[in-house]
Amino acid sequence: MTLPAGGDRLRRTCVVGGAGFIGSHFVARLLSDPETEQVTVYDNFSSGRDWHLEPVADDPRLSVVRADVGDLATLTETFRGHASAIHLASNPDIAAAVANPAIDFDQGTLLTHHVAEAARMAELELVLYASGSGVYGDLGEVEAAEDHGPMIPTSTYGASKLAGEAILAAYAAMFDFTVRAFRFGNVVGPHQTHGVGFDFVRRLLEDPTRLRILGDGRQSKSYIYVDDVIDAVLTAGALADTPFDAFNVATGDYVTVTEIAELAMAVLGLEPGTTIFDYTGGDRGWKGDVPVVRINTDKIRSLGWSNQRTGPQALRDSMSSMADDARAGLLTT
Ligand SMILES: NC(=O)c1ccc[n+]([C@@H]2O[C@H](COP(=O)([O-])OP(=O)(O)OC[C@H]3O[C@@H](n4cnc5c(N)ncnc54)[C@H](O)[C@@H]3O)[C@@H](O)[C@H]2O)c1
Repeated sequence: MTLPAGGDRLRRTCVVGGAGFIGSHFVARLLSDPETEQVTVYDNFSSGRDWHLEPVADDPRLSVVRADVGDLATLTETFRGHASAIHLASNPDIAAAVANPAIDFDQGTLLTHHVAEAARMAELELVLYASGSGVYGDLGEVEAAEDHGPMIPTSTYGASKLAGEAILAAYAAMFDFTVRAFRFGNVVGPHQTHGVGFDFVRRLLEDPTRLRILGDGRQSKSYIYVDDVIDAVLTAGALADTPFDAFNVATGDYVTVTEIAELAMAVLGLEPGTTIFDYTGGDRGWKGDVPVVRINTDKIRSLGWSNQRTGPQALRDSMSSMADDARAGLLTT
């Protein structure tokens, strides 16, 4: 598959967090273009997995650097010779900060500062940054466009994403490189390392009779297939010509947590009504959770992008693939 027109800077890319769920799909997609020259994975394998990279492991254009983004010298050395970086390394677990409040600064904001610094010193041309819809905070039914303001995050994860955007925007302006930030909805697909569908499939395979559901099940969010996310990021990345811009990336439809539980049952061949749903109660899964997420996607669509799967299709396909991986003993987190 060829990269979008204008994607020359993507032919030598370092994927930071490239052994993780979304990162491993970027790696495969970049290498699927015969004109790609170099793809480097930089990952500490905390939630990344070797088996995510197995399909491309023998490609001579792929290098893997096992190191922490906290190690600025190694990151900078690794970036040298590349034109672009895709930055995906962070704490992936939004609820983790309830027990460990510093985690999103240490494994979020600070890592993004290191990416900005390394990009400056290694003279990268382009940085593509995985932000998230958490930057908007809890807006209820209000649909957030990219210029929504003020942005008041309600989780340290969302705060870290917003801080990361600010740091990268300032570096782009001061040190002459280009940054694009992407505020994804929930991303689903093969290789998922966390998320509601991932939890439901694993727990239903262990015990199909009961399923614990955080909150009241009516939390309603956007779920997007990983291939659609990759297309959006590469499309906007290829066209990027101003220092900084941000894009929402979502399907435009919404699915509730109870609907996801029902989809998980269907994927596993369980008859409707045969699993008891145990709701923990309250309108949200954990303190800091945003129960209703609505994001406007006109801006990314104006570049010619459109999603190929709806939210329910994305969830069904990803949970089927996770069920296959779980049965093969591959889901270890
Ligand atoms: N999955 C989603 O629904 C979603 C939604 C919005 C934004 N994002 C963001 O996209 C990015 C990728 O998410 P994902 O779902 O693929 O998560 P993931 O945990 O599968 O991937 C993150 C990768 O980064 C690596 N990593 C983490 N900390 C590191 C460190 N200090 N040094 C080196 N490597 C490190 C991990 O080993 C892993 O391979 C994250 O920043 C996440 O916040 C994800």
